[in-house]
Amino acid sequence: MNTKTVAMAAIGAAMVATAAGAQSGPDAAAHDARMMWWREARFGMFVHWGLYSGLAGTWEGKPVGTKGGMEWIQQRVKADTDTYAKRAIPLFKPTPGFAKEWAALAKAAGCRYLVFTTKHHDGFALHDSKASDYDAGSTLNRDLVREIVDACRAQGLRVGFYHSVIDWHHDQYEHAKSKQLPHPLKGQPYPNGERSHAKYVDYLHAQVNELVSNYGTVDVLWWDYSAQDFQGDEAWRAMELMAKVRAKQPAIIMNNRLFRSAEAGWKSMGTDGFANSLDTKYGDFITPEQHIPATGMPGVDWETCMTLNTTWGFSEHDHAWKSDETLIRNLIDIASKGGNYLLNIGPKGDGSVPEESVKSMKAIGAWMKVNGESIYATAASPFPTLPWGRATQKGPALYLHVFNWPADGVLDVPMKADVAKAVLLAAPGAALDVKPDGAHLKIRVPAAAPDPVATVIRLDLRGAPEIDPTLKPPAAAPAKH
Ligand code: GLC
Repeated sequence: MNTKTVAMAAIGAAMVATAAGAQSGPDAAAHDARMMWWREARFGMFVHWGLYSGLAGTWEGKPVGTKGGMEWIQQRVKADTDTYAKRAIPLFKPTPGFAKEWAALAKAAGCRYLVFTTKHHDGFALHDSKASDYDAGSTLNRDLVREIVDACRAQGLRVGFYHSVIDWHHDQYEHAKSKQLPHPLKGQPYPNGERSHAKYVDYLHAQVNELVSNYGTVDVLWWDYSAQDFQGDEAWRAMELMAKVRAKQPAIIMNNRLFRSAEAGWKSMGTDGFANSLDTKYGDFITPEQHIPATGMPGVDWETCMTLNTTWGFSEHDHAWKSDETLIRNLIDIASKGGNYLLNIGPKGDGSVPEESVKSMKAIGAWMKVNGESIYATAASPFPTLPWGRATQKGPALYLHVFNWPADGVLDVPMKADVAKAVLLAAPGAALDVKPDGAHLKIRVPAAAPDPVATVIRLDLRGAPEIDPTLKPPAAAPAKH
């Protein structure tokens, strides 16, 4: 980096920090420091992969469904762990190089981090665990967590561990303590008589301890999940668990899913049940699931996690793939509201990524190659809404993302500003003509959209823009995708 780029990057980082720096709680400064890379990253890859992946949404030769999370297949067919494991283990056959493919794909897509399921609700651990033999170490004689972590590091990606605190296999997990949390054997007496949930919690802590002790730096712990009727200290000894994790990984960031209360950023049990405030003692960020908040959440770090079709874990029956246009515009929409996008792939039982997902991730990557500077390290849009698209900002640069190209070749921007320069990111050599027009600016653009999905114009501004005060914010309901 030359001095100018360093100065620009510093301005950008400072803006990002201020934009999300208002979170409450005693450790706000420490929180800001550890969130720095994450706020700049803006785009990550989520991976749901485990025993359910080989089953692929099929049970006894029949599709379990064409929509919804097939990582829940054990619960959907109400199988006990022995039955489930007997069918699923032979179908879970990771090829030797699978993790390198994931990491290369994340990199090619423009993701800066990768979060993967170290253990999902079925309880099968992908590492080689001393605390359990329901794990990759015992069944495959491999440590899949190490393989994935190594592959991510080789690509320069930050790495995060999704970890389910719900566990459908453990014989001391007292699922009857919650009416709201799912379990395949819900409502039935425990087959092994009395259970001691405290023993399960010891086990949970022991496995998490392995994960944060044996794989070098872990950047994110992505907990999943709690209920209003069973959460936090009562359910998982959550505060103690978080403190133990932080003792081993001082810079790690964690989501808020060990809890399900208002002060921890939750309003209800629905996937749209997120609040727009968070005390950081309960977690560093909020995770709207399959939803993009209608407006940004100033002062709160949030990350929308989303599927490419409708399932997290692989299903051979789900063909409801989102278009590249939807995905690219979602990423822009989220960045324009100051959030991160964690976009999920569900690899098959052999670890290979469905070709539809590879195609989409690469399409996002191609767009990011040209336009990535309008996403990384940016802050939320200064406009409450824009009729033709979205915006982000970074230091003196304002990025305009045009979804609907103007038919008359003139883009109306609802602000007054002193524009030093205007260019298309796709053709940065040619300056665009900009003229003031009352409280607005008019930018002369090429007749046809250079990129019909989203063309980005960068305006280098002198001083702060004056946004048209008559612009109204969008309705407050979060958009479901
Ligand atoms: C959930 C689901 C799940 C998925 C996750 C991703 O709450 O239980 O299967 O892993 O959310 O956000």
